[in-house]
Amino acid sequence: MITYIDAKNSKRKVAGIIPLHDEAGFAGMRKAGQLCARALDLLYEEVRPGITTLELDRIAFEFAHDHGAVPATMFYRGYRHSICTSVNHVVCHGIPSEKPLREGDIVNIDITLVVDGWHGDSSRMYPVGEISRKAERLIEMTYEGLEVGIKAAKPGNTTGDIGAAIQTYVEKQRASVVRDFVGHGLGQRFHDEPNIMHFGTPGTGVELQEGMIFTIEPMVNLGREHVKILSDGWTAVTRDRTLSAQCEHSLGITKTGCEIFTGSPLGLFNPIAVR
Ligand code: MF3
Ligand code: CO
Ligand code: CO
Repeated sequence: MITYIDAKNSKRKVAGIIPLHDEAGFAGMRKAGQLCARALDLLYEEVRPGITTLELDRIAFEFAHDHGAVPATMFYRGYRHSICTSVNHVVCHGIPSEKPLREGDIVNIDITLVVDGWHGDSSRMYPVGEISRKAERLIEMTYEGLEVGIKAAKPGNTTGDIGAAIQTYVEKQRASVVRDFVGHGLGQRFHDEPNIMHFGTPGTGVELQEGMIFTIEPMVNLGREHVKILSDGWTAVTRDRTLSAQCEHSLGITKTGCEIFTGSPLGLFNPIAVR
């Protein structure tokens, strides 16, 4: 069962109604989240110079199909693929294509799978062969940004505390946080309340409560934060063409902190830590 809190009537002002999930919801999210993690683990074996992102998309689709899951992005607002593949200066929503990956590229793969009606949503960075020290540093920074956000995800804190923690950390490294795309509530819907901004002011936004389920998915640029959307209507790139990275977990607020649903069973979530 899902109960809803009307956030407008809570002490803090917000946009809409935030579902609070019970143990059955957490169980559903665990299953969906773990299937996403296994798909991303499988793709770790496949990413190498010469492979196209369309081939990766096909592998992801087959994995989903074989496990009775549906990619949520398939036919979502006209999108036609199982994953987003965002290479180098692509910030997010990169569309799989026939273009082969090249040594030194960094690519984010983002997958959302629906299992028994529950949505798991996760993304990771994949280095293609040897990458530059600069790219490696960006990836490390992005993962650390997600980590400090997760540490702030606990009852009593607010959504603004998560955003502020991420922004403070990233800007201290003299990189920037993208403003145009945010984390989101999810569960039986792909995108729900609350919005999770990756920047902001401590103590503002919505107070976090046990049972809330959402993603944290910071996008970090080596240059300025500004993005533009290409004419395909999806691909978001950095305006200054500097490198961009992202990583994403789905998580649920517990009594004392949070539970991450999309952790890698093989310990492959952070590719830099693995090498
Ligand atoms: N998975 C993305 C997210 O984290 C959404 C992708 S929507 C798509 O919210 F249509 F671009 F695939
Ligand atoms: Co998401
Ligand atoms: Co995603």
